[in-house]
Amino acid sequence: MHLLIPAAGSGRRMGADRNKLLLKLLDKSLLGWTLTAAGASESIIWIGIIGQKADFPDFEAIASQVSLDIPVEFVEGGKTRQESVYNGLQALPPEADRVLIHDGARCLATPALFDRCSQVLRSCPGLIAAVPVKDTIKVVGNYNLIEDTPDRAQLWAAQTPQGFEVQLLKECHEKGRHLGWDVTDDAALFERCDLPVRIVEGEETNLKVTTPVDLRVAEFILRERLAIGQ
Ligand code: C5P
Repeated sequence: MHLLIPAAGSGRRMGADRNKLLLKLLDKSLLGWTLTAAGASESIIWIGIIGQKADFPDFEAIASQVSLDIPVEFVEGGKTRQESVYNGLQALPPEADRVLIHDGARCLATPALFDRCSQVLRSCPGLIAAVPVKDTIKVVGNYNLIEDTPDRAQLWAAQTPQGFEVQLLKECHEKGRHLGWDVTDDAALFERCDLPVRIVEGEETNLKVTTPVDLRVAEFILRERLAIGQ
């Protein structure tokens, strides 16, 4: 399975002055942990890391420290995640017919999750890892007034990996660019094109490290894992 890692964001919501994926979590950068998990999965055979050019020297150093035994390529990202993934899709080798896309910021995903998604993607055109929502979710409108309370039994929180047939996803991205769609994940493009996207049970610990609190929670989870030798 080919894997694209969008890693071209900034550290704005983290309050950092650089790409948050370069921040340290114990002895590795966030990106280092993500690459370690992807490299330990049995199904991933190629990784494309999508980043801003200025970060490439750091990314190269991180990739060589993780010492992956599969090819790794670096792709220049765009202004939005959507643009970054678009660029990544253009850089896939021609033999790639299915692809997993995994946010570099979800550095706690396990190798087993990559393998589970790869396995399911053999029998469907699109999937996402997701977990059932625990909170009651409110739709809020003007003046902070609640407009709706959707039925929680139907709500899932989207994670990555997300996986797709490459040709179909490329077509969805092209259509999205043409029609000016602005989405925060790739499944949304598939959905807008009326293509089916299956849910694969994700992991509660697969959080997207976004704020300083997330960084502390991620550190706690990693320490627990290291202590029990996972
Ligand atoms: O900002 P956020 O955490 O939602 O970004 C999700 C993922 O998309 C991150 O791994 C980030 O590096 C990546 N991203 C990107 N290109 C952008 C913005 C975000 O690859 N222009």
